[in-house]
Amino acid sequence: MMPETARTLVFANTSEVACCTGPSRGGDAADPAAVVPRGTVAVRGGRVVAVGAEDDVLRAHPDAERVDCGGRVLTPGLVDSHTHAVFGRYRTDEYALRSQGVPYMEIARRGGGINASVRDLRARSEDELVRMALPRLREMLACGTTTAEVKSGYGLSTEDELKTLRAIRRLRELQPIDLVPTFLGAHEFPPEYRGGDADRERYVDLLVGEMIPAVAEAELACFCDVFMEPGVFTRAQTERILRAGLDFGLRPRLHADELEGSGGAELAAELGAASADHLGDISEAGIRALAESKTVATLLPGTLFFLGRPRFAPARALLDAGATVALATDFNPGSCPSPNLQFTMTAACSRMGMSPAESLRAATAAGAAALELIDGRGTLSPGAPADLVLWNATSAAEIPYRLAAPIVAGVWKRGQRVVG
Ligand code: NIG
Ligand code: FE
Repeated sequence: MMPETARTLVFANTSEVACCTGPSRGGDAADPAAVVPRGTVAVRGGRVVAVGAEDDVLRAHPDAERVDCGGRVLTPGLVDSHTHAVFGRYRTDEYALRSQGVPYMEIARRGGGINASVRDLRARSEDELVRMALPRLREMLACGTTTAEVKSGYGLSTEDELKTLRAIRRLRELQPIDLVPTFLGAHEFPPEYRGGDADRERYVDLLVGEMIPAVAEAELACFCDVFMEPGVFTRAQTERILRAGLDFGLRPRLHADELEGSGGAELAAELGAASADHLGDISEAGIRALAESKTVATLLPGTLFFLGRPRFAPARALLDAGATVALATDFNPGSCPSPNLQFTMTAACSRMGMSPAESLRAATAAGAAALELIDGRGTLSPGAPADLVLWNATSAAEIPYRLAAPIVAGVWKRGQRVVG
């Protein structure tokens, strides 16, 4: 038998192929999803080798094995550029409180929130974290995600952050999703550093002086992230941490202006961050700063939905100003326990005024841009990784329209079938 990688596969009989090579923003004649009606995709050696009309592709690859798409839609594998997928238990207890009207930040002040997950994760072994994350990543894959960023940030001590990042490294070998690791030691101040401002500065000293060098030395992360928010990390602390990360080769990204604006988007642009995430309360100046920079605006409407917040990030203003907008789940046990990026796309269309085509581009190619992946990921174009999703749908617009319906019919990672 021919080895898998030497075979050419041709995905034929589609209703359409969404290449996701269009501009971030739709309107006029622009199509962010770059749809090819009845398109055909050829893959070989784990890469896309051709996209085009069925006759042309079949003629160029006469010996290829044919995958019959049954008149359905083919898209790139989804790229979820913001997750906290390695954690211990779910925080179901907090959900009951929140449904009674207790706000997220109030639950954190009472000892719940991120620090509840910190206490929980610290008590678990690396093996246990790997074991608990595997079924969650399987759920993510079943939703069509083939590349995901995963953050640490529930350890908040050198030992527990390294344990989390080692778990992420092991998970890369144990399941099909490509995982991009981010160090988020600045997710919160841990219980032992919450005495006051001086204590908090000592935690920042620990991050800068010990954790970042240790993470970089062990080559356990690509990015350094900070939760910059009133009551959590200040602008000055955030800048110090991200600059220290840069000194050690960790590219910056940040949780910016999530619940209460504090200039996070402006700082992200100033530092040349890969991405500024959340932006529920971004300022006009922040919108302009992102539009004028290469920093991707990553929106996580699943979080604001789950937290019951009335206001969503200004996706339209960002797109109209010329920013690149990505969508991600924020998958985590507190503010968004769903790994379903299709649902995020629905929230983006229903609550933020994005078009279905813009939402698909944002959940694929723009997610790859937010992770600085430059191998064509998130698109179907020659040379891109052969990561594909076949949907039980006849048009790409149907993907967000079908609101969390289980319509993933098949997933291929590097040309190998991994779902369906
Ligand atoms: O992105 N904002 C901070 N971090 C997560 C929430 C994590 C948690 O509640 O466990 C977020 O919303
Ligand atoms: Fe987050």
